Amino acid sequence: MALLREGKLVAFPTETVYGLGARADDDEAVRRIYAAKGRPATNPSIVHVASLSAACRLAHLGVQARSLASAFWPGPLTIVARRRAGAVADATTSGGDTVAMRVPAHPVALALLTQLDLPVAAPSANRSMHVSPTTAAHVARSLGDRVDAIVDGGPALHGIESTIVRAVDGEPLTVLRLGAVPLAAIATFVSPHAVTDASARVDAMDAAAPAPGGQARHYAPAGRLVVVSRADLAGAVADARRAGERIGMVAVVDRPHLAESEITLAADAASYAAGLYAALHELESRGCDAIVVERVPDGDTWSAVRDRLRRASVPQRR
Ligand code: TXA
Ligand code: MG
Repeated sequence: MALLREGKLVAFPTETVYGLGARADDDEAVRRIYAAKGRPATNPSIVHVASLSAACRLAHLGVQARSLASAFWPGPLTIVARRRAGAVADATTSGGDTVAMRVPAHPVALALLTQLDLPVAAPSANRSMHVSPTTAAHVARSLGDRVDAIVDGGPALHGIESTIVRAVDGEPLTVLRLGAVPLAAIATFVSPHAVTDASARVDAMDAAAPAPGGQARHYAPAGRLVVVSRADLAGAVADARRAGERIGMVAVVDRPHLAESEITLAADAASYAAGLYAALHELESRGCDAIVVERVPDGDTWSAVRDRLRRASVPQRR
């Protein structure tokens, strides 16, 4: 905690993924986060706070924002609202006039924020565009000595990032990123017609300053990742073998017995999400340069997972 107060970088657990934290009111500290991640300064950071009243000190929360906050905080919902002048550093919001905030439900994160009594900017604790970390070991492998400390709080419960909604008075509520809170849960708090889903937007990879969260390639392991139906797994493995690649596979429920490294995940969306990033980290650490992922079911409960797999399978720019 003293490290954070001094403007140092501390990775800490949340219920979604691990965050790379620095005090949000300190431009220099926040710039250190961007340097450690290799993240463009144009991509703003989520600010973690201890309570709704702490969030109200940073931004103007309207009726919708307050009702969402009361319903979902502490928890994996990030609310974007019009920022108050001077409340957080410009580097935190990339100079924008809004700020993204959430109260995390992880006991360690919450205790840290409560005792510190400062807003903490924290993107996911991984190199920019890479797979998010769900354990302290993932953070160490990705960022290592680029952070001043890593707080180990065990594996993250949800294993997928928070859902982000923009709730600015006078505008329709807009979902910017699907995540641990399902869209249907948000729609019960406002008229479903009043929610716009903008989460599927994908920006061109060569966009000079991609809009927040819109990067085409994201959440990606070092190797190439392909998503295919169960029936096409064998063909995808054969292609990779011909190319001489080391093959890893992520399957749903049953082991297909096709690749040397196979990880199976559960068939319910929440358990699958909780294990997905850990599976990708594991296959990457085994040196797999082709990761074949079995397509997940259709349906709304899987949409956050489908979004991550779609972005992770966008080929790397050469
Ligand atoms: O679950 C999570 O949200 C994790 C944990 C650590 O809290 N954090 C996380 O942060 O996923 P990050 O930086 O990896 O993703 C935050 C996303 C980015 O796509 C960013 O562009 C968007 O939130 N964002 C941040 N501030 C914003 C703002 N003012 N308006 C719109 N989008 C914003
Ligand atoms: Mg991230």
